[in-house]
Amino acid sequence: MNDVVSPMRSQGLPTQGGAPREAAPFVDIQCLTKRFDGVAAVDEVSLGIGRGEIFALLGPSGCGKSTLLRMLAGFESPSAGRILLDGHDITSLPPYERPINMMFQSYALFPHLSVWENIAFGLKRVGNSKQAIAARVDEMLALVQLTALARRKPHQLSGGQQQRVALARSLALEPRLLLLDEPLGALDRKLRGQTQFELKSILKRVGVTCVLVTHDQEEAMMMADRIAVLNRGRTLQVGVARDIYETPNSRFVADFVGSVNLLDGTLKEDEPDHCVIETAHGDFYVSHGVTGVLGMPVSLALRPEKIRLIDKAEALPLHNAFSARIVDQTYFGSSSVYRVALASGAILQVAHTNSDRHGEVLATGAAVTLALEAESIVVLTS
Ligand SMILES: Nc1ncnc2c1ncn2[C@@H]1O[C@H](COP(=O)(O)OP(=O)(O)OP(=O)(O)O)[C@@H](O)[C@H]1O
Ligand SMILES: [Mg+2]
Repeated sequence: MNDVVSPMRSQGLPTQGGAPREAAPFVDIQCLTKRFDGVAAVDEVSLGIGRGEIFALLGPSGCGKSTLLRMLAGFESPSAGRILLDGHDITSLPPYERPINMMFQSYALFPHLSVWENIAFGLKRVGNSKQAIAARVDEMLALVQLTALARRKPHQLSGGQQQRVALARSLALEPRLLLLDEPLGALDRKLRGQTQFELKSILKRVGVTCVLVTHDQEEAMMMADRIAVLNRGRTLQVGVARDIYETPNSRFVADFVGSVNLLDGTLKEDEPDHCVIETAHGDFYVSHGVTGVLGMPVSLALRPEKIRLIDKAEALPLHNAFSARIVDQTYFGSSSVYRVALASGAILQVAHTNSDRHGEVLATGAAVTLALEAESIVVLTS
């Protein structure tokens, strides 16, 4: 792939909010569908990705992330829909004619070649001069900080270092679009976190547009300007990390991105500035309106860290205060999670930040009041 060497693009980066400002997206995915034996693995997906943007496809196993990426790369031909790159229709171009590079989870480094030769490999195929190749390889080695290890073979490198070689090799040909399928999947948790920072800073320095596939929401949040949440081949929500977490548009997104308590209820009162949801556990007062009719079924999404536990004589809030009992507590270091039973029997998770080293631990069975701000509750209608 990537026999086209195009000038490196670094202009036109999306700004802080992440959403691209340009009218026409750099990568324009239009109603893309892929069916295998009549079953849609990717189902009418439309997405616009800005130039220089890092865009994450996030979703559970089997939701169609890799299939979508493989269609962008040209390894899979769509059953329907189009892909435009910088205004040009590339839907029917073979992979090697696309100015796109894909980095696989396994890295697929050549074991018998040194780091230097691995990075040079694609450049040689394109037929660059020896001098140009050497200059480019050295530039890439410096970019991923592996100059000192240029003579080593892949098996003499750590997982994180191998990942950086694969990245250097992918970037050597200056792709206009870089596709990363679970790029950090082979790394252990601690190394992943550190490598996410490095990878993001390299991609931003180069300014390459990037589509990243992951099933790890923290990785998506850490790396991406914007995230598309997929399920069963469809995009459910596209937005910056904060929007997806704080304003999920469906039960699936609320549940998949972060921890959440979901409660069923019905719409009891609906005003422009607030609504009341009736549930088996009591009424919840929420500071936003809902589109719908009174009596319709809805779900409440309550994030564990937004629930407060009150165990002392303290003035209770006017709304959203419920009697409860501590079921148990799990200590996670930076936070603890309490499971708390409401009078109805429903069990909610409540997260508590351990900012105080020897902070009080609420005992199992203790009676508490569970309190929620009206603005921290999200009502979901789908
Ligand atoms: N070549 C194929 N033939 C038939 N079915 C396929 C083929 N490739 C993928 N599928 C099916 O399409 C669906 C989506 O697969 P895909 O590999 O895109 O998922 P994914 O989101 O990347 O999952 P994971 O996180 O496990 O990698 C799955 O149900 C899979 O079994
Ligand atoms: Mg996959």
